[in-house]
Amino acid sequence: MAPARPLIDVQDISKQFGSVIALSGVSMTVWPGEVHCLLGDNGAGKSTLIKTLSGVHQPSSGRILLDGEPILFNSPRDALDRGIATVFQDLAMIPLMSITRNFFMGREPTKGFGPFRRFDVETANRVAREEMQKIGIDVRDPSQAVGTLSGGERQCVAIARAVYFGAKVLILDEPTSALGVKQASVVLRYVAQARARNLGVIFISHNVHHAWAVGDKFTVLNRGKTLGTFDKSQITREQLLSMMAGGKELEQLGAELEEFARADAARAGGRESPLEAGAAAEAAIAATLRQEVAEDRELLEVERRRRH
Ligand SMILES: Nc1ncnc2c1ncn2[C@@H]1O[C@H](COP(=O)(O)OP(=O)(O)O)[C@@H](O)[C@H]1O
Ligand SMILES: [Mg+2]
Repeated sequence: MAPARPLIDVQDISKQFGSVIALSGVSMTVWPGEVHCLLGDNGAGKSTLIKTLSGVHQPSSGRILLDGEPILFNSPRDALDRGIATVFQDLAMIPLMSITRNFFMGREPTKGFGPFRRFDVETANRVAREEMQKIGIDVRDPSQAVGTLSGGERQCVAIARAVYFGAKVLILDEPTSALGVKQASVVLRYVAQARARNLGVIFISHNVHHAWAVGDKFTVLNRGKTLGTFDKSQITREQLLSMMAGGKELEQLGAELEEFARADAARAGGRESPLEAGAAAEAAIAATLRQEVAEDRELLEVERRRRH
């Protein structure tokens, strides 16, 4: 059954930094159980938009509704308390702290009372291990430093944390951009898991392939303006690419397609996940990827013949 109203309703948001117009009249809605991709080249305004959603910036004009109610956040903590969790690209984790400490980040369970109150290490470790397990990441020792995890796994700690603390909206700013193919697929997989748990996910990327693999809707930003929001059924990946890339599209298309082909090859040995609801979503992604790569090869072949 379709929910009556969106989780997040961004209405005509603009944001200026002095004379720089970072956002101009951007609107978008995010529904529970959907992955809404925010696409655009560097400087398009993606981070600025999600920073206004997560309480880092206040919009210069326009408004944001959460569950139908206008909101104005003063800080990311404020936004988090209202169920909007943002995983910023760089400040997600403290490398020297344990996985468990990073997971709880000041919300650790305690035991005892008054002066005897102390950090309940066993419970915290168990919860951290269980929550990571739920998303398919096997952490043998949650007291190990987060810095010993791969980049993808670190992103997953941040995402698992957001889900565990009851986020309704999960915002991921370029979670896969700095990652290799294999690690990126771990993150994509958990994005599918978050959707299966009915969160609304805002997935920011300038990598159309990653976005296409998990996205239900796509909003494309270009120089602070929106080029519109498109349902996956309304648009093709190539159209999204050319919207983002503009004039350089053919060259970029080729490079992106190669990257995509490599990604698919690396995934070919992919195993099935037993994780219930999310598994179906993952399988759908895998099928999309397989189909996409076949189409890409065809497209590349046509393009090669055209050029010669
Ligand atoms: N704090 C800031 N002060 C001044 N200009 C900013 C600030 N943040 C972003 N901008 C500018 O706003 C525009 C959009 O940036 P950003 O939202 O980071 O883009 P994206 O995340 O899509 O790469 C850029 O021109 C950028 O230089
Ligand atoms: Mg950015």
